[in-house]
Amino acid sequence: MLGGAVSGGTVLGDTVSGGGIGLIDEDSVVGLEGGAGLPFVMDGVVIRGEQRGRQLGFPTANLRPPENRALPPNGVYAGRVTLDRFPGRWVGAVNIGVRPQFETALGLLVEVHILDFNGDLYGSRLHLELVAWLRDERRFDSVDDLVAQIQRDLEACREAVPL
Ligand SMILES: Cc1cc2nc3c(=O)[nH]c(=O)nc-3n(C[C@H](O)[C@H](O)[C@H](O)COP(=O)(O)O)c2cc1C
Repeated sequence: MLGGAVSGGTVLGDTVSGGGIGLIDEDSVVGLEGGAGLPFVMDGVVIRGEQRGRQLGFPTANLRPPENRALPPNGVYAGRVTLDRFPGRWVGAVNIGVRPQFETALGLLVEVHILDFNGDLYGSRLHLELVAWLRDERRFDSVDDLVAQIQRDLEACREAVPL
């Protein structure tokens, strides 16, 4: 199952599992375009974040949310990434939100940790396709707990995203 390692999440992608979509039975959702608007696609130029991700061990390419367009709900998603300056496709672990674990002045961001990628992306254009919803963004008891959860998120992303 997609994102099987994640407990308590409703995974939307090729498969819909769990509850969470009251009123609509699962069979009717599966036939829709990914259910709940997924896959969601966006393009953006990578901007500088607060560099905290690097210290946590998960550097992120940050994108400003698109103007005049609704974003999917805040949360952690598995996605697929392509880059204008580098040929190839990557799995992305995506956080859409405001990072409640930290004090941050940047507000709502789309942050993408690109698995197995090492390079300077500032100013490049990033194309992102969201494939599956993993969990809500939240504050943990400690930063170590957040880091442990992100580690699990990355494994779930590898499982959820065929390249
Ligand atoms: C897969 C993933 C999951 C995340 N989950 C959370 C979360 O649950 N709560 C939170 O406050 N921040 C979460 N973040 C955001 C990190 O806190 C953020 O990327 C980090 O602080 C670095 O931000 P910066 O590079 O802008 O400094 C997540 C980031 C990623 C890549």
